[in-house]
Amino acid sequence: MADYSNAGATIQENVSLKSFNTFGINVYSRYFVEVDSEPALLSALRFADDNMLPKLFLGGGSNILFTQDFSGIVIKLDLKGASEEIINEEEVLITAKAGENWHQFVTYCLERDYGGLENLSLIPGNVGTSPMQNIGAYGVEIKDTFYSCKALNLETRETEIFTAERCAFGYRESFFKKEGKGKYVILEVTFRLSTKNHHIKTTYGAIKTELEAAGVEVPTIQQVSKAVINIRQSKLPDPQVTGNAGSFFKNPVISTKHYESLAKEFPAMPSYPAQDGVKVPAGWLIEQCGWKGKQIGHVASHPLQALVIINATGEATGKEVYDFSEKIIESVNATFGITLEREVNIM
Ligand code: EPU
Repeated sequence: MADYSNAGATIQENVSLKSFNTFGINVYSRYFVEVDSEPALLSALRFADDNMLPKLFLGGGSNILFTQDFSGIVIKLDLKGASEEIINEEEVLITAKAGENWHQFVTYCLERDYGGLENLSLIPGNVGTSPMQNIGAYGVEIKDTFYSCKALNLETRETEIFTAERCAFGYRESFFKKEGKGKYVILEVTFRLSTKNHHIKTTYGAIKTELEAAGVEVPTIQQVSKAVINIRQSKLPDPQVTGNAGSFFKNPVISTKHYESLAKEFPAMPSYPAQDGVKVPAGWLIEQCGWKGKQIGHVASHPLQALVIINATGEATGKEVYDFSEKIIESVNATFGITLEREVNIM
């Protein structure tokens, strides 16, 4: 067997992925390699080519549900580091490598008083996967501060720069989940952040309430972050303790006509205006169908946020989680005529 380890890519065989996915699902990959540099990544790709192996790229493993063993090679992206460039009196471009943990990166920015990512505190996962689904929370998405990203084209093996426009961001969507799916590996991401006169966003109800409770009138970005952390910790399960992948479904957008007929029957239904209709919170729909806190075998809907499916006992299989989600889809469909779409990637 050719030596692929010289570039830092040590290939292991039959590796459990339990500690590499936040759901804590115990499946095995035939091959597994952690890469911390571009040469190591290229070396791992050569190994995959030479052995004709399917490839799966893994970041923080926070948005994936494994339902079976993987017969190819899992390539875990571990590229680390950050750099910055002051571009004017009020802004900085900050670049982080794909393998940096998202929240640690947000913290790093807050320590330097760079603003723009504070509402995205405590989101699980790594920097490199943040553009994939345009991560968002509390009224902010990464598209708001995204400047560019560098990605490896898997066909040409050349790196390419993606502007925000090329990324075609939408709600939990991007080029990388659509036309670019399986064709690129994101290596680093650059954000354009403020160094002063921060643009604080506290319109999201829960943040306002949290800041008021803390007696804060004019919040700093650090105080906004703290408020977001408090809200998240109060209702979202910590994946270190209880396996989960955050929101399991997207919030569906329905037609105005459909919304109006449902609103008559369910006047308490929350809703937000959306581009092509009305967005309805999936958590509310799921709760109305009686799923909140409900457990079947090892799987449950989180008691404090119905949109999050949890590995309640730590022993769940991916198939059980999938079947549970299928039951939720069926029941929401039967009650509201809305088909929920999974946000989590199923493997
Ligand atoms: N709701 C319920 N029952 C529930 C959960 C929610 O009735 O069990 C209702 C709430 O009362 C509220 C509405 O649904 O009126 C919205 O709830 P929440 O503010 O918790 O937000 P969400 O729409 O359920 C989205 C994101 C989260 C993000 C929050 C905060 C999606 C799919 N999810 O959830 O993202 O943290 O907003 O901005 O858009 C994630 O993607 O993993 C994630 C956690």
